[in-house]
Amino acid sequence: MKIGIIGSGYVGLVTGVCFAHLGNEVLCVDNDLKKIALLKKGISPIYEPGLEEMIRSNLQKGQIHFSSHIDDAVKKCEVLFICVNTPPKDRGEADLSFVENVAREIATRLRQYRLIVEKSTVPVQTGERIYQTICEMKAKTTLFDVASNPEFLREGSAIHDFLNPDRIILGVSTPKAEKILRKLYEPLMAKIVVTDLKSAELIKHASNSFLATKISFVNALARICDASGANIDMVTEGMGLDPRIGASFLRPGIGFGGFCFPKDLMAFLRISEKMGIPFNLLREVLDINEDQKRFFVKKIENHLWNLRDKTLGVLGLSFKPNTDDIRFAPSLDIIGELLKEGVKIQAYDPKASGHFKKQFKDIRYVKNPYEAAKHADALVILTEWDEFKTLDMKRIKKIMKHAIVFDGRNIFDPVLMKRSGFQYFSIGR
Ligand code: UDX
Repeated sequence: MKIGIIGSGYVGLVTGVCFAHLGNEVLCVDNDLKKIALLKKGISPIYEPGLEEMIRSNLQKGQIHFSSHIDDAVKKCEVLFICVNTPPKDRGEADLSFVENVAREIATRLRQYRLIVEKSTVPVQTGERIYQTICEMKAKTTLFDVASNPEFLREGSAIHDFLNPDRIILGVSTPKAEKILRKLYEPLMAKIVVTDLKSAELIKHASNSFLATKISFVNALARICDASGANIDMVTEGMGLDPRIGASFLRPGIGFGGFCFPKDLMAFLRISEKMGIPFNLLREVLDINEDQKRFFVKKIENHLWNLRDKTLGVLGLSFKPNTDDIRFAPSLDIIGELLKEGVKIQAYDPKASGHFKKQFKDIRYVKNPYEAAKHADALVILTEWDEFKTLDMKRIKKIMKHAIVFDGRNIFDPVLMKRSGFQYFSIGR
């Protein structure tokens, strides 16, 4: 099939290369000319494992093309995926102006049947709005459908997630739209759930909110473990074996970040408020998440006493491993707080230092974890990159001023760390 991707950001690019990989001819559009110029050369504007390689190989095969003109996509592609940004406004509500613009641009160019699919995370009833907008602006006789096909891609494993989905949600309003989308996804041989448009939109918000709720639940629980002397690993193991609860997404830490959970939860809360049925549980989930970062800073303060002029080695800045993304990363708030207290920070992240540097200039960015640990009063782990799990801790202990580790991601075994001579503080154990 000929597929047009409108918006070549994170979701758009991954969706585009994966559809190309499945044998479709894909045209990715973006109004950022610099980005399109890079993509045409096979350079990915974001770091995502495997993405750049797939862009290059599909460019070579002629399966993927990039353009800054939406006309090309509307003219040539039967299916158009809307993958533009829906950033948060001041009060957390999703800004849908990019989505509306795309709908208008498609409408004025519609000459023959097109299936328009929303892929960006949008509030329930957005599909309806897109439909109305296009109806009002298009030429009278042209037919089209609007569908919702939410993505569940995790940064760092987005390509794997796309090609191996747990389920594919097709929110459609006509048999024709269903038929086209089924055919498109057929090669993945995944479980397909067909719903109406609004239910598909809600599935995305509900899934993200539920996952975030699990994380806040376990973080609140970890604080109870800290206070009572119980061990969160044992508690979650005992809980997670109940299939009704499940073991995944019960890892305690310093709170969830990234461009999905915080933003989507806030947007969902605002939608529910607008409907007059505020989903207050979500407010609590967000509050616990904010508290969790303060709780971690307090933990550091409690043990180091005065922070002024102490040197902290920080390992990890991205909101999770295998990405250079720092949007809503817990590290931003935690490091912000620590700097306010007058600490000196020497930080290492395998991919995210470049982005972090733009926001925090008063940090010494170093080239490896050992430089971060050198002469430090304590080591602070903020992201669980694999390379931190296999560090030579004997060497780390030797080069630190004091062998103290605050592990915000529970990557080490507390017993082994104590046995190796570290004062080791983690979350809920
Ligand atoms: C998430 C959803 O998983 C994905 O389906 C959706 O499409 C986009 O949002 P992503 O934000 O890439 O994906 O990352 P995810 O792996 O879900 O982690 C989100 C945050 O939660 C990270 O900050 C992570 O560190 C944190 N997390 C996750 C925990 O603190 N504990 C856990 O048990 C799991």
